[in-house]
Amino acid sequence: MKIVSGMRSTGKLHLGHYLGVIQNWEKLQREYESYFFVADWHALTTKYDKTENLKNDVIDVVSDWLACGIDPNISTIYVQSLVPEIAELNIYLSMVTPQNWVERDPTLKDMAKILRTKEGANSQISYGLMGYPVLMSADIMMFNAEAVPVGIDQVAHIEITRDIARRFNNIYKTEYFNEPKPILNECSLICGLDGNKMGKSFQNDIKISDSEEVTAKKIMSAITDRSRMRKDDLGHPDECEVAFKYWKIFADDETVQNVRCECEKGTRGCADCKRMLGSLINEKLADVREKRRYYEAHKDEVEKIILEGSQKARSQAQKTIREIRNIIGMY
Ligand code: TRP
Ligand code: SF4
Repeated sequence: MKIVSGMRSTGKLHLGHYLGVIQNWEKLQREYESYFFVADWHALTTKYDKTENLKNDVIDVVSDWLACGIDPNISTIYVQSLVPEIAELNIYLSMVTPQNWVERDPTLKDMAKILRTKEGANSQISYGLMGYPVLMSADIMMFNAEAVPVGIDQVAHIEITRDIARRFNNIYKTEYFNEPKPILNECSLICGLDGNKMGKSFQNDIKISDSEEVTAKKIMSAITDRSRMRKDDLGHPDECEVAFKYWKIFADDETVQNVRCECEKGTRGCADCKRMLGSLINEKLADVREKRRYYEAHKDEVEKIILEGSQKARSQAQKTIREIRNIIGMY
């Protein structure tokens, strides 16, 4: 069974990506024939005027994947724009996709809203951004994936992909395309240091590539039980919005119970608590970060992995696109 999934090239990834998505991919790659790609065209749908770091962002994303255990020997790792057949498939799919299917797409509506708050009411959604779900369908259908591991926010897009695949099959009287299903990430969602969703643009994230010092410092800024003023006030771990949640993600049950008891009894100060939490997180990430530093120092190796993976993906895509042209009746 084949799976395809991608991430936009947003630069260095954070723990939300690691725990929410990449860890899941890492497991799945051992069960499925896996295609993981950096969606640099999707990045362009909103950042078409800020392209200075595009290439570096791609290298950063792939370095993070490799550090987290995505293995180029068993998965195909590639860059979307290095497989231009995807753009050709995007054209064919855009012909069979009714305009109101993309206009209805809730995720796209959200993106448009964010864009308007950032750039003012006059900001225009580009034609390219409108095509976001169709391009995503091309990504998935290019390799005829049967399943797509994604977060819940992407499920609406996969629904459109299923609709487009079905419509294509109907129109051209074929059963060529699968109707791919989402595989929801089962990992826990980690919130940002301020208690909101972790995100690069909210400046509340811990990067996979952050140093131990930076991580420890960031953890010290995490929100705790707001009602607690002094060290020996009785604490309420369940109202400790960030730090205790992190304990639950990173520590074993026994340790979590200990933290809870000491917090409730008032024998554990928040500063000490967060110092220990920072050490624990650093310990858990030590191996990943060692690999991350290796790839940071060996960008040529990362680039080689990207180019070889993209070459592999492309030769397969070329074969598929010939079959698709044939089905449609192109020259
Ligand atoms: N839209 C996805 C995101 O923002 C990235 C993406 C692009 C993707 N194409 C895809 C994910 C195909 C899964 C399959 O995270
Ligand atoms: Fe949160 Fe720890 Fe402070 Fe309790 S002691 S409120 S768990 S940071």
